Amino acid sequence: MCGIVGYVGDKESAPILVSGLKKLEYRGYDSAGVAVVGNQVLNVVRSVGKLRNLESRVGAEPPRGTIGIGHTRWATHGRPSDENAHPHTYKGVAVVHNGIIENHLVLKEQLRARGHEFSSETDSEVFAHLIHEELERGADLVEAVRRAVAQIKGTYALAVIWERDPTRIVCTKESSPMVIGLGEGQNFVASDVPALLEHTRDIIFMEEGDLAVLSSGKAEIFNRAGEVVNRPIRKISWTPMMAEKGGHKHFMHKEIWEQPRAVADTIRGRVLLSEGDVYFEGWTLTADQVRALSKVTVLACGTSWHAGLVGRAMIEKLARIPVEVDLASEFRYRDPLVDATQLVVAVSQSGETLDTLAAVREAKARGALAMGICNVMGSALTREADLSVMTNAGPEIGVASTKAFTTQLAAFYLLAVKLGRLRGTLTMQQAQEHLTHLTGIPKLLEAVLRVEPQVKRVAREFMKSQDFLFLGRGAMFPVALEGALKLKEISYIHAEGYAGGEMKHGPIALIDERMPVVVIAPREPKEPYEKILGNIEEVRARGGRVIAIIDEGDQHVKTLADWTIEVPPACALLAPLVATVPLQMLAYHVADMRGTDVDQPRNLAKSVTVE
Ligand code: AGP
Repeated sequence: MCGIVGYVGDKESAPILVSGLKKLEYRGYDSAGVAVVGNQVLNVVRSVGKLRNLESRVGAEPPRGTIGIGHTRWATHGRPSDENAHPHTYKGVAVVHNGIIENHLVLKEQLRARGHEFSSETDSEVFAHLIHEELERGADLVEAVRRAVAQIKGTYALAVIWERDPTRIVCTKESSPMVIGLGEGQNFVASDVPALLEHTRDIIFMEEGDLAVLSSGKAEIFNRAGEVVNRPIRKISWTPMMAEKGGHKHFMHKEIWEQPRAVADTIRGRVLLSEGDVYFEGWTLTADQVRALSKVTVLACGTSWHAGLVGRAMIEKLARIPVEVDLASEFRYRDPLVDATQLVVAVSQSGETLDTLAAVREAKARGALAMGICNVMGSALTREADLSVMTNAGPEIGVASTKAFTTQLAAFYLLAVKLGRLRGTLTMQQAQEHLTHLTGIPKLLEAVLRVEPQVKRVAREFMKSQDFLFLGRGAMFPVALEGALKLKEISYIHAEGYAGGEMKHGPIALIDERMPVVVIAPREPKEPYEKILGNIEEVRARGGRVIAIIDEGDQHVKTLADWTIEVPPACALLAPLVATVPLQMLAYHVADMRGTDVDQPRNLAKSVTVE
């Protein structure tokens, strides 16, 4: 998630912009920049890497001017570099953007045909060119921005300045957050509250489609229809730390709740519904190459390994390619049978996990083609893999992976459809059906977030338990593993995930009234559902207490389990994205009630860059 700060007032803007960007550092970024207008001249300073690099450049020659915009970039299109850093400019127009322009390639082609030349690999630069074109056609800055965004498919929080109109910032939003800060003789815009709290606590949260015009003495907001609107001014009482979490108590809680947007952003621009296909930027594999694949080997650790287990079910079902899922730390030491006929898929949120990187190097040394599914553009994995499919979850601050997991599953589903179409195991119509299911998932995630009060009640009932068992079958077996990992890593309660069919092969000896058993029991597919009901009865017969994650309206399981949490049903291969959310919440609330350090659990690191 990129960071945006804008200032217009009676003070030098550059120091205010840099200071505001520093308050947004927690969001994660790979480059930063500021654009300032002084004496009707636009000055831009940008720098890849940490803000201190930008600070030293700004400090050496501070761009002068009392109006400016700044940005911290989290790369989605185009690697981290000075040229790809925002603000992007074109002939006196400067823009900063947070979001994804789905149709940027088409727009770039059209603009190039009209003589435009681009200086970056980003989608965002398109805004500067479109706005300049409208200015050339006689529009003022406000109208030029309005006409430019009308050509955009995608999401944006956008702030614009123009050297020939040096008294106004024009900003507008669609799906990406944007707030306005009101001051005396000065006004601010930002992507998030923390950037503004040192200057003002009078904050306006812009709404979808709003466009605001800020000058030193005025902040005017127009709705999508162009009518002036009076949005409520909120007096923010948050501390700066609370503000970084958007009012959530912990980053993990914020990131659980960000999942609808994170999954939507991972899907965005990649579903070609009319063609029944998937678009991945930088995809290189031909149908012949995919048809020639003998196997796919997934390499990962921890939560990412659980995602790989679900991904196996997706790829084997839709693309009919054999998939092996291996712990990266094991793969690299077992003289693996890997060769040039294989595709290796390395899954890593951070892209820096040493075990995973070492396993990828081992596989590549044996001739395999390496693909990364990763959340951090520019990380080691994205540099070493032959091609990468990025999850667009935005920075994940909490050590316990949540939105990384669900976006990895969405990426796997897109990959499974893509491989299926290239291998001919999916017709266009079948792919259209699968992709329609996938595009419906963000709405189901919105819906499942509403189970939180029920989950809190379960957490309060079982927070003192010493052991937990999680059971699932089929694509829900990895979800059981993930639920157990979430609970153990942040609450420090011993928890194990098991395939339901394995109960009779040992774990059933553990069952007694002190052992809560979480059972994930979707009604589809039918066979595993009936078997998992048997598991519930086995547990109950031995005095165990059952918490069942069930499809909404499943009255039958309600007669069997002690506690039920109802989630919206989804097709079997996508149901894991939905069923995981109550398990994330259970782990979160048990840990919070036990008073552990939810975001930074003991002994753990966000990225394990050692063996
Ligand atoms: C999951 O909640 C943990 N943070 C951990 O298991 C993590 O998934 C694992 O270390 C892999 O990290 P990566 O996805 O960044 O490679």
